[in-house]
Amino acid sequence: MNLNYFSEDTKLPLVITPSNGDVSKQSLVEWIASNKEMLNEKLREAGAVLFRGFQIDSAQDFEDVSKAMDNDLKDDYLGTSPRDKKSGFVFSASELPPHYPIMQHCEMSFLPSAPRKLFFYCHVEPIYGGETPICDFRKVYEELDPTIRDEFEFKGVKHIRNYSAPDDTSKNAFQLKKWNEMFLTTDKSIIEKKCADNDIVCEWKENNGLRLINKNAATKIHPQTGRKAWFNHAQVFHVSAAAEEYHKIFKRQKRWETLKTSVLLDVLTFYKKLTKNPNDQSMHVTFGDDSQIPDYYIEHIQDVIWRNMVIQPWKKGDVICLDNFSISHGRLPYYGPREIMVCWTS
Ligand SMILES: [Fe+2]
Repeated sequence: MNLNYFSEDTKLPLVITPSNGDVSKQSLVEWIASNKEMLNEKLREAGAVLFRGFQIDSAQDFEDVSKAMDNDLKDDYLGTSPRDKKSGFVFSASELPPHYPIMQHCEMSFLPSAPRKLFFYCHVEPIYGGETPICDFRKVYEELDPTIRDEFEFKGVKHIRNYSAPDDTSKNAFQLKKWNEMFLTTDKSIIEKKCADNDIVCEWKENNGLRLINKNAATKIHPQTGRKAWFNHAQVFHVSAAAEEYHKIFKRQKRWETLKTSVLLDVLTFYKKLTKNPNDQSMHVTFGDDSQIPDYYIEHIQDVIWRNMVIQPWKKGDVICLDNFSISHGRLPYYGPREIMVCWTS
């Protein structure tokens, strides 16, 4: 196999390609099995390993490659994206509409069960956009303004999510799933138990909606390397985040549609701030002591993230493995076909 970095500057990701003409899934699975220790070492160091040029054609192929890297795959999902199941442990990465920005995040950072490893697979290559940029959140931690970073570390972060009732018929572009779709049950006692098991505070609202609250540290120390990473969803959940993200996206994707979405988001964000109690937004984030996080803090975090982001176009058959305690991921808007799948470990 050939081992090279996609970017020598960032050393992210490490790209592994076939060197002897044998591109079969089976040869990759066998090679991973016999080089597992070296691969795990590389993964800890770089944070991301991309397998490119192999014949990975289906959700099952992807699951086999991922299992060769780590046999401990999970199918329990308490995150925010709508996802469809493709095989035993493989899901669609996100069913969110193509123009939605998905800001950089370490998967389920607000849960005690955040996965250690995350795998993505490109089944259908996008025609335009649709990259899954990644970012080294260890570097983000190091490069943040120490005053802002200290405040986050001192106060922690409170993540708030609001889910509508099963019978809710109102149309809201920002609304998350209904709570029965999230938990796949209408039995409130099962939901309460699941929340308790995952350190989630759940509050039933008057309109039969559900509010989930997670209070977390803003950073995480990697259990194996001891390095600290930025580890929260502040610049994903914050009310001003999507509009600011779109300003950055427009600098990269100079399309008329991108500009229209960006202007619309500016207006909607302004309206949301004026009209809605922050705790009732579909998603919201405050410091752990309930004080509000200023908009310019969020902009600063986004600036540091975009400075460190690695954006590589997908190739059909790509499989990328991320150390979720070091490296974040997101999604750029796209048009045309695109099918990316995901699986994760405990
Ligand atoms: Fe994600």
